Amino acid sequence: MALWSSTSSSSSSSMLPLLGLLSLLLLHPTTTTTAAIRLNIIQNPTVSAAIIPSFREAPAFRNGHTCLHDHDHKNIIHIVMPLDVNYIRGTMAAVLSILQHSTCPEDVSFHFLSVHLHPEISSLIKSTFPYLTFKMYPFDPNRVRGKISKSIRQALDQPLNYARIYMADILPNDVNRVIYLDSDIIVVDDIAKLWGVDLGDKVLGAPEYCHANFTNYFTDAFWSDVNLARTFEGRRPCYFNTGVMVVDVDQWRKGGYTQKVEEWMAVQKRMRIYHLGSLPPVLLVFAGNIKAVDHRWNQHGLGGDNLEGRCRGLHPGPISLLHWSGKGKPWLRLDSRRPCTVDYLWAPYDLYRSSRVALEE
Ligand SMILES: *[C@@H]1O[C@H](CO)[C@@H](O)[C@H](O)[C@H]1NC(C)=O
Repeated sequence: MALWSSTSSSSSSSMLPLLGLLSLLLLHPTTTTTAAIRLNIIQNPTVSAAIIPSFREAPAFRNGHTCLHDHDHKNIIHIVMPLDVNYIRGTMAAVLSILQHSTCPEDVSFHFLSVHLHPEISSLIKSTFPYLTFKMYPFDPNRVRGKISKSIRQALDQPLNYARIYMADILPNDVNRVIYLDSDIIVVDDIAKLWGVDLGDKVLGAPEYCHANFTNYFTDAFWSDVNLARTFEGRRPCYFNTGVMVVDVDQWRKGGYTQKVEEWMAVQKRMRIYHLGSLPPVLLVFAGNIKAVDHRWNQHGLGGDNLEGRCRGLHPGPISLLHWSGKGKPWLRLDSRRPCTVDYLWAPYDLYRSSRVALEE
């Protein structure tokens, strides 16, 4: 067994290249080391490796005087996020940003969906946010394994990307409504405002983008099939991003929407009707039938495009939530010392301190 450890310190500039390498090992989903870690954990108990990041402890955020003393938990804001070791630096920053901008941070409850329920990850969250209300839930990747078809970006094909489709089943029944958030986001406004969105009779609320050319999210095979092309008849479908959604999970359960999305994934397996991962089947079920939320709640695309992750600027208008959707992630670009301008908006929420790489053979 070899133990290799390193501690970050701004004064030791000679450590920086090493740290860059460490964070690449830690955070880049396509490095062979990370792939090896995944495989080792699942398949090979005799060889194991673990990279344990450490984070600074966040301060205790306390409720303001205007918050109700809520013994019935009626005002609890339920937030669901995927939790993947490769994106945990993003998750920590997202949580911090939500607490920091909440008037009633103690009323926010986090539900993390994770493929592997490592006790180390729970401890890591507890030590970073000692006052956080959270629960971890296992997401069984076998639920989607045979249903995923290859997309244009490998990272989109991770089973955990599909967990949002199953959250209504995974969460306890007394959770009726949630905000689903990806881990590459920062909230810079009171999340209670998004929570307060009136869904009316809709199951899902999200910012809608009706100027985006909707045709392009589906293939010719889809549009040229007479039956399939009729899918959106009677609604005006607009693109929305599934990384930020307000969901009435009660209605989702009652309407059997998980199965409806799965049916489209089965169609995709037979005849390629779209190029992206978990997003298009959700569009097929919901586009044109959602509650439109103010655009300020998803400044998406800050990670650039899906292939190269080029830098992109902000869209005009006020901002409540920044979203690094696309290939580029701010922590990777900052570590590579070639950040985009928008990445400096993410940096203040970064609690990452160092990595300890433990390799065992
Ligand atoms: C949308 O894209 C399709 C296919 O690329 C194209 O044929 C169509 O003209 C576009 N529609 C608009 C409104 O730009």
